[in-house]
Amino acid sequence: MNNLLNMNDPDYLLTTIFGESNQQAFVAISPGRVNLIGGHTDYNEGFVLPAAIGQYVNVAARPRTDKTVAAYSEEYDEIREFSLEDADPDAKGSWIDYVEGVCTQLAQDHALRGAEFVVRSDLPSGAGLSSSAALELAVAAAVDRMNDLECSNRTLARHCWRAENEFVGVNCGIMDQYAVALSAENSALFLDCRDEAVEHIPFPAETVNAVVINTTVTHELVESAYNERRAQCERGVALFDRCLDREVTSLRDISIDDFEAYQERLPAPVRERCEHVVYENRRVQRAVDALREGEIETVGDLMYDSHASLRDLYEVSCEELDVAVDVARTQDDVLGARMTGAGFGGSVIGLVRAQNSGDAVNAIRREFRSRTDVDPQVAVYSLVKGVQAN
Ligand code: GLA
Repeated sequence: MNNLLNMNDPDYLLTTIFGESNQQAFVAISPGRVNLIGGHTDYNEGFVLPAAIGQYVNVAARPRTDKTVAAYSEEYDEIREFSLEDADPDAKGSWIDYVEGVCTQLAQDHALRGAEFVVRSDLPSGAGLSSSAALELAVAAAVDRMNDLECSNRTLARHCWRAENEFVGVNCGIMDQYAVALSAENSALFLDCRDEAVEHIPFPAETVNAVVINTTVTHELVESAYNERRAQCERGVALFDRCLDREVTSLRDISIDDFEAYQERLPAPVRERCEHVVYENRRVQRAVDALREGEIETVGDLMYDSHASLRDLYEVSCEELDVAVDVARTQDDVLGARMTGAGFGGSVIGLVRAQNSGDAVNAIRREFRSRTDVDPQVAVYSLVKGVQAN
């Protein structure tokens, strides 16, 4: 495991916070993710191509003899507790929701021991890098080890996705939890969000790096706009279901030809939302083919197209994300860039030639700052393996 260094003495860490215990301590390390392409397709049963990056949420964990779960977050410097026997079904609007959601979700299928957790993270929250999915999977993997559940990472991802939807109350698709759970080193994860099939697509890590431009900006609308987009896509599904003489259950059922044949019957902005999703699915497939053929420039071009579509048709971008993509595009060594995550702030993911990535990072930072007055966090990452626990 590569990022255990800062958690290399979980016993010490847990004892500092919770006192002595004779229980065995475990560590789970859980990466953030970027999405190379496939924006807002997951909840439309479409295709996505995320990858895990080397920034992590780590959890040190040890069991307790009672049914209490106590967790300490270094970031918030607070201890929160709940009981596995007498769980409060309501989310609190706090980081503990992710811990409680996952524990209560797993407790529905398994008898769990209480636990103590220390959460340490270098993955910023609100940056569109899935810090919540990373925390969920870290907790799930630690609970799995402490209780010898022997669940697969796929099963843990499912539990975490349910925790996020049913307990935390965020109506997200499956991409984030699957990316954090199932990614492989130096690969992107080609995920079919309909049948949940995954394929690891090798990424040319020696020559190309992933660059993340975290704008550090988050706008208010994220959640309401996300739910509104979902509803507009459902409206599109209902309209296509009426036009076509076959059953349409999601936008995945709509081909480009279907869209072109019937698009005039769709009202704005449902038409634009559907156009984005239908063509974005095609772009993901083309990006996968291009990666397989070693045509990384094509992947980059598709990323720019994806961003334009998210900006103009799906309308989930914002000024800072657009500036970040524009700034990236001015760099000769950047091959492509797009917003990653839900939108309205957060991060842009780009592909940059490895040999000149340092210069590109500095230039992007400088240029973004001069155009926005915001100091972005710009860094290059390798693509790493999904969650692990020892
Ligand atoms: C968020 C959600 C994901 C996905 C993306 C948009 O990250 O959690 O499920 O819908 O937005 O692609």
